[in-house]
Amino acid sequence: MHIGFGTDVGQIMHVVTADMKHEHTISWKTEKFGESGNLEVRPKQSQNIIKVNAEVVELPVYNGGKHFGLYTAHVTNLTAGTDYEYRISVGKRQSAWMQFKTEPELTSFKALIFGDSQSLDYKYWGKTARVAWQKNGDAAFFVNMGDLVDNGQDEWQWNAWFDEGAKLLEAIPVVPVMGNHEAYSLDWKMAKPDYYLSFFSLPANGPAGLERYAYSYDYGDVHFVVLDTQLNELHDWYPDLLKEQQRWLAKDLSQTRKRWKVVLMHRGIWIHPFDGPLDDIGQTFVPVFDQYHVDLVFTGHVHSYARTKALKNGKPDPAGTIYITTGRSGEKVWDKSPQKPMDEFYYNPLDMPNYLVFEASYDALKVAAFKQTGELIDQTEIKK
Ligand SMILES: [Fe+2]
Repeated sequence: MHIGFGTDVGQIMHVVTADMKHEHTISWKTEKFGESGNLEVRPKQSQNIIKVNAEVVELPVYNGGKHFGLYTAHVTNLTAGTDYEYRISVGKRQSAWMQFKTEPELTSFKALIFGDSQSLDYKYWGKTARVAWQKNGDAAFFVNMGDLVDNGQDEWQWNAWFDEGAKLLEAIPVVPVMGNHEAYSLDWKMAKPDYYLSFFSLPANGPAGLERYAYSYDYGDVHFVVLDTQLNELHDWYPDLLKEQQRWLAKDLSQTRKRWKVVLMHRGIWIHPFDGPLDDIGQTFVPVFDQYHVDLVFTGHVHSYARTKALKNGKPDPAGTIYITTGRSGEKVWDKSPQKPMDEFYYNPLDMPNYLVFEASYDALKVAAFKQTGELIDQTEIKK
């Protein structure tokens, strides 16, 4: 375990909130389960401490592993654009003061986006994360596009994913997107993604009954919506997964006043390999994306990087939405997703993993894709 304090407390993680100007969520893990914990937060060099109790849950134990306790504390009423110090406690033990920042009132920001990190050896993901963070230490948060791990109920994989990504997870909020591999059991059957849902205390503003499967949040001038595309994996529990999200998505997008709208979801809008028409996901969500003028849709799953022309109803239209498949940040490659007719740029990162840098300002969104070495693959800009 990556050490927080003592030898049994660690994996400190910042998690996205619906309002990153005024709210902050931090979680941490222990190898024992049962002690209480809390979070103390103060503006830097101030003695005005806000203390909140942590909620403690026992993480699922599947393969005879340890009984980990996960502590999550959610602090509200913070001030935008402020440097805060925080420390965590378990029982009578306390960490040193560490730091985080709330979202500033400024509208320009940068975020990192990582395609599938699933691996056998998570060092691949670790190197991608470290290089991206070294070169973009001003990123406000990072997104992982799903298939964070190869098997979502396998504890060692989550520990390896965390330990390799610790530099990022300890520094800026993570925005996780659920992938199909989060919804498999140890014997590779469909499973409710219990570990994922316990691990990430996400904004509970999604569709009723599907809270934290889907959610939305704002940053700067951008409204982000995270959708769940596990229609096959979750069918036994949520047969109307797509329809319920479709209704919620339309309402969510109709209510935002933000200038830019970006959707993050694991699977794309066509089946792979591509054969033409929109698939169930595309048929459900694309009419809503078109109606509410979603600017960008990021997806994962196929482990290649591809950027389409602007599309409406899946067909080129300058007023439409650009779809970007984000490649892979982990070890696993896939060579069965060739270039689609509507792709303006296509690159399959067979030689090494890649990452994306997303920059947003009042009048432009920029996306750039880089190899794990930092070498540029592609960049684009949308102006409004
Ligand atoms: Fe996937």
